[in-house]
Amino acid sequence: MLSGQPIIILKEGTERTRGKDAQGNNIQAAIAIADAVRSTLGPKGMDKMLVDSLGDVVITNDGVTILKEIDIEHPAAKMMVEIAKTQDQECGDGTTTAVILAGALLKNAQDLLAQNVHPTIIADGYRMANEKAWEIIEKLSEKVTLEDADILKKIAETSMTGKTAAFNRVQLADIAFQAIRAIVEKTMGKSSVDLDNIKIEKKQGGSMKDTELINGIILDKERVHPAMPKTVKDAKILLLNQALEIKKTEVDAKIQIRDPTQLQKFLDEEENVLKNYVQKITESGAQAVICQKGIDDLAQHYLAQKKIFAIRRVSESDMKKLSKATGASIVSQIQDIKKTDLGFAGFVSTRKIGEDEMTFITHCKNPKAVSILIRGGTEHVVDELDRSLHDALSVIGKTIENGKITSGGGSLAIEIAMGLQDYAGTIGGREQMAIEAYANAVESIPRALANNSGFDAIDILLKLRQAHKKGKKTFGINVYTGDIADMKKQNVIEPAVLNTQAIQTATEGAVMILRIDDVIAAKGGSPMPPGASGGGPGGDEDFEGY
Ligand SMILES: Nc1ncnc2c1ncn2[C@@H]1O[C@H](COP(=O)(O)OP(=O)(O)O)[C@@H](O)[C@H]1O
Ligand SMILES: [Mg+2]
Repeated sequence: MLSGQPIIILKEGTERTRGKDAQGNNIQAAIAIADAVRSTLGPKGMDKMLVDSLGDVVITNDGVTILKEIDIEHPAAKMMVEIAKTQDQECGDGTTTAVILAGALLKNAQDLLAQNVHPTIIADGYRMANEKAWEIIEKLSEKVTLEDADILKKIAETSMTGKTAAFNRVQLADIAFQAIRAIVEKTMGKSSVDLDNIKIEKKQGGSMKDTELINGIILDKERVHPAMPKTVKDAKILLLNQALEIKKTEVDAKIQIRDPTQLQKFLDEEENVLKNYVQKITESGAQAVICQKGIDDLAQHYLAQKKIFAIRRVSESDMKKLSKATGASIVSQIQDIKKTDLGFAGFVSTRKIGEDEMTFITHCKNPKAVSILIRGGTEHVVDELDRSLHDALSVIGKTIENGKITSGGGSLAIEIAMGLQDYAGTIGGREQMAIEAYANAVESIPRALANNSGFDAIDILLKLRQAHKKGKKTFGINVYTGDIADMKKQNVIEPAVLNTQAIQTATEGAVMILRIDDVIAAKGGSPMPPGASGGGPGGDEDFEGY
C-alpha cells in the first residue's frame, strides 16, 4: 500500500480465494471427482449412464470416459480429469484407480493441514512415499515375455472384468493377444507395441461373439464398380496415392473448338490418359488397387474391364496400415510403379456386414498391422466393447514392453501400505505423518473394491493385513465371496507399470493441487458457485503485504 491507497492490479470482476479457503475448496472439488467414479471400480463396479445436452447417451464403466463426458467446471476438478487422461495415455487402463488414489491422498492431506502440517511437508512426504512404493512394486513384480500367452491373456481378462465385455472376456482376451503378437516389433532385444497398427472397426449388429480378429485390414468401403470381381484370391495389391482422374486446371481456361473432329480428339485425349493409367496398372500385375484419392468413372470402367478390384478415397492412416499389412509401398506416381511396390493378400473380398458392404484385405503374410471387427447388439454395447478392447490391448502391450507383472485385487496395495508404514517409522518427524497418510490412502483401493462388492471393508482389510503379515503377499479380495484369496491363483494379474504409473500420476496430481494456496479467477471463470465460502472478491483485489 502506498499512503493508505490500495494498489489494484487485478482486473475488475476478478475473483480471488486464498490460503486455507482456496486449499479447502480445491480439495473438496477433487474429492468429489474421486467419489463420482469410485463406485465403478473393480469387477463388481457399476456402470454410469451419461446423457449430454443433446440427449446422447453413453453407458460406461471406464473412469476416463466418465470424466471426459461430464461437464466439469471447477479448475481443481479439471486437474483430476487430467490425472485420468494422463493415466489413459500412458497405460490405457487404471484410470479409476489413479483418480481414487489422488482423491484419497488429498483427503488425508486435509486432515494433516488441519493439524497445521505445512503443505510442502506433506508434498515432500508424499514424494518420498511415492518413491518407496515404486521400490516395493519393483520387488514384488515378476517377469513375463511374449511366450507366456496364458498369462498375457489373463492380464487382458483382468482388465475387462466388471465391464460389458466380461461376458466374452476369454474370446476377447484371445483376440487382443493375437493382435498384439502380430504387431509387436523387436529392435535390439526390446519389444515395442504401437497400437496404431491395430485397426478397430465397429459395426453395430450381430452379437458380441461375432467380434473377430482379421489378419489384415478391413475398410468400411465398397469396390467402386459392381462389375469388378467380388473376391480376388492371392491378390497383388497396389497402394496408390495419385488420383485416377484428369487433373482440373487451377485457373479457368477456355478451349476453342472449331469443328466436331476437334471435340472428339479432345475427349479421346482425356480417355487416353485414363486408359494409359489403367494400362500401367495392368502391366504392373496389380489385381487390387487401393487408392487414397479419387477414381474417375471412366477409369473405374476400364479397371472393371481388366477385372481389377479397386477402392477409392482411403484415409492416409489406413493406407499406412495397409502398407504394413500387405508389405506394399505407397506409390505416388503411376508412371513409376515397380513390381516390388506391390503387396500381397491371400484374399481381397467384399462382405456384407449388417447393412453395409465392407472390404476385407486378409490372409496377409506376416502382417504388421491387423484389424479387429467389433460387433454387438446395440451401439452402446459396441462402444463399450471398443473401450474394453482398448484396455485389453493396452495392458498386454504394456506388459510386453515392460516385461513385468504384479497381482491385483488389492493385494499389491496392501503390500505397499504395509511397506510404507514400516518406512514411515524410519523417517520420523512430520514427514512420517505424511507417509503414514499416504499408506492409508493406498488402502482406499482395496477399500473401494470391497465396498463395491457389497462386503464390509473393515473386516476384509483386517483379514488382508493379517494374511500379508504372514507373508501371503499376493492375497487380495475375492469380490464374489467377500473372503480373501490368492490373486495369483485367481488369475487377477496386471502389468506392473499400470500400478507404478497410477501411483505416480495420482501423487503428482495431488501434490499439485495441494500446493495451490491462491486461486485468481478472471471474470466469469469463478471456480466457486455463488454464495460458496471463500475469500470472495470484496477488498481482495489488492495484493496487500506482497
Ligand atoms: N477378479 C477380480 N477380483 C478382484 N479384483 C479385481 C478382479 N479383476 C480386477 N480387479 C481389480 O479391479 C481394479 C480395476 O478396476 P477397473 O474398474 O478396471 O478400474 P481402472 O479404471 O482403475 O482400471 C484393480 O484394482 C484390479 O486389481
Ligand atoms: Mg481397468
